[in-house]
Amino acid sequence: MTTRLRTLDDLPSLSDQAVLVRVDFNVPMQGGTVTDRTRIIEALPTLRELSEKGARLALASHRGRPKGERRPDFSLAPVAGALADELGTSVAFAEDCIGDPARQMIDGLEPGGVGLLENVRFHAGEQANDADFVNELAKLADIFVGDAFGTAHRAHATTAGLPQRVAHSAAGRLMEREIETLEGLLEGPKTPYAGILGGAKISGKIDTLSNLVEIIDVLLVGGGMANTLLSAAGYEMGRSLVEDDKIELASRVLERCKQRGVSVHLPTDVVVTPDLGSDPPESSVCLVSEIPRDAAAVDIGPKTQTEFRQALQSVETVFWNGPMGVFEKPPFDEGSRAVASAVGHAGAFSVIGGGETVAAANQAGVLSEISHVSTGGGASLALLAGKPLPGVEALAEGD
Ligand code: 3PG
Repeated sequence: MTTRLRTLDDLPSLSDQAVLVRVDFNVPMQGGTVTDRTRIIEALPTLRELSEKGARLALASHRGRPKGERRPDFSLAPVAGALADELGTSVAFAEDCIGDPARQMIDGLEPGGVGLLENVRFHAGEQANDADFVNELAKLADIFVGDAFGTAHRAHATTAGLPQRVAHSAAGRLMEREIETLEGLLEGPKTPYAGILGGAKISGKIDTLSNLVEIIDVLLVGGGMANTLLSAAGYEMGRSLVEDDKIELASRVLERCKQRGVSVHLPTDVVVTPDLGSDPPESSVCLVSEIPRDAAAVDIGPKTQTEFRQALQSVETVFWNGPMGVFEKPPFDEGSRAVASAVGHAGAFSVIGGGETVAAANQAGVLSEISHVSTGGGASLALLAGKPLPGVEALAEGD
């Protein structure tokens, strides 16, 4: 059953009220500049709506994993500038997410004004969901809005603890849209339904894979994940990344697909290299039955690209997470771009998640063809694995 969330419509009057909004501004940065503003842009509808209602907005987020230490390289200060650009208004910044700096920032905001608090992970209490830290945060506002879908799989102070501690809490518009769309992939999606999984390791996605094979009609797997499945199917994978301790699990997944009649597509040809570290990398294409002993598979081959495209031609729904090869090392990003293009042109209801997956769709020029681009890679995988998301449960009606 779809989770019924408390929404912005359920909150009391917000005029001149301090509202703490948990956003996910864990955005990539280079030299102090935000290089991808997607997560900032996706938060705008919620921020604009709250601002128009006259609330004074204190935004809380994490960035990176500073492990409770105040690390300047993980500061959110540059994000305040990017947010101000996108909102077209000034954005205040507090040097700490609790205590006097936070209090002073909020007190200085006009109704409708926006301020950003410093990285919540500069305090160890955030990841520990520590009660004292939650209490400090709760002093800042009586109203909480959770819009950080990308962090909803974490049971942290600003995702799970705080919403249960304040007088009023609700999900933001981004959170609502993510939950509705992704839960729709578990509950009666249009069929045929294809799941595409990639990325380096099967171990990180095994729960999602196991849950998805109970629902989908077509399974496509690429990237390092496919190596373990190919190994389970009896192929010699040379020096490719194979998780030996997961081969039995991979065999069970393939067996389950056979029982359910899921059409499984694994790579039939791959790009291989004897040395991923060489520059430019030496590479060739071979059938999966002919992988040299001293080479590693690093991308899907052209034949597989065609087969994957064909497999997607007649599907009605598609979910994709994870690259088809060593995406960060061109030219081994080609297979991912080809799959992105196939997903974009499939004419199906398409949902994608994960940084490299979204980057591949962007590079292939099909991002606007994708029905829903999730802001949460790990969170969407956890949801599709059927796991409860603490940051969502805390905002569910009846909670
Ligand atoms: C993400 O980018 O996946 C989210 O912001 C969560 O970050 P985390 O994996 O460091 O908790």
